[in-house]
Amino acid sequence: MNETLRQMLFLPPQASDFATEIDHLHYFVIVTTMIASTLLGVTAVWFMARYRVRHLEDRTPHIEAPLWLEALFIGVPLAFFLLWFRIGFGQYAGLGAPPRDAIDIYVMGKQWMWKFAYPGGPSGLTVLRVPADRPVRLLLTSRDVIHSLFIPAFRIKQDALPGRYTQTWFRATRPGRYPIFCAEYCGTEHSLMRAEVEVLDGAQYDRWLAAEQGGHLAQRDIAANDRSPDGFQITAAAGCFKCHTSDGTPHLAPSFAGLYLKRETLAGGTQVIADEGYLTESMMEPEVKRVAGYPLTMPSYRGKLDPAQTAAILEYIRSLKDVPRER
Ligand code: CUA
Repeated sequence: MNETLRQMLFLPPQASDFATEIDHLHYFVIVTTMIASTLLGVTAVWFMARYRVRHLEDRTPHIEAPLWLEALFIGVPLAFFLLWFRIGFGQYAGLGAPPRDAIDIYVMGKQWMWKFAYPGGPSGLTVLRVPADRPVRLLLTSRDVIHSLFIPAFRIKQDALPGRYTQTWFRATRPGRYPIFCAEYCGTEHSLMRAEVEVLDGAQYDRWLAAEQGGHLAQRDIAANDRSPDGFQITAAAGCFKCHTSDGTPHLAPSFAGLYLKRETLAGGTQVIADEGYLTESMMEPEVKRVAGYPLTMPSYRGKLDPAQTAAILEYIRSLKDVPRER
């Protein structure tokens, strides 16, 4: 049934668990509306034949529908629309909430290609390799204009914005290769901005990642004090430590220790969660969401940090997630 409908509607293969869920809602909507419009069409044709003009004196009788009939005509479609909204909203919310144990992969769009980078591992690839049956979170950004990462087989699409990180996630179900497109018009070669996702089975993926990381991984385990050596160097080079500390002591700006996913109160009194989106926004536009109690001394890093450096600083802040802080 699923397969028949998928082919009838010319849908791409279903290679993530979202794909199946989203398609089921799609079928539900399509089948219900097709049945309803067929019934309406048949009734209209039948009425045309049944009530056609036979004599010149024919007059359409005045009919008043009973209240229950009106309620039925309004209530039934409304109930369907509300149900679809409920299901669709649930799926939308699920897409925005990656599981905590998801594998993070950084994605950068630029005119006109996609680059994928693995924390502490390989980067600069145009093929996105992911394991099957494990949640993968994509953190997207762009180096120039707005792009949109679209993986039809996973039924996910997410904009990549310059100077900002957005996220989406998926759990691939079937090993194989599937196309990636750009779904936001971004210049003359927009239609050629393609890449590929290769879903490997779990063991294959682990072997591939280990081989790519090579000695690099062993090295970073030795640096016991610091789980993100590249991130540390880049953060230091950018001058962040002039105001931010990494050991939790208060200074001119909030400490990086325990900052990731912390609830911060802003100068205006509102609260935010210090996730990737917030942290990147604050690097690019520090004045917009300033933490209460700190002066605005930070300059904007827009254009000064490239996406790889931004990602490295994010990784560094995340590596300090469990370090206690004094305030
Ligand atoms: Cu990138 Cu269209």
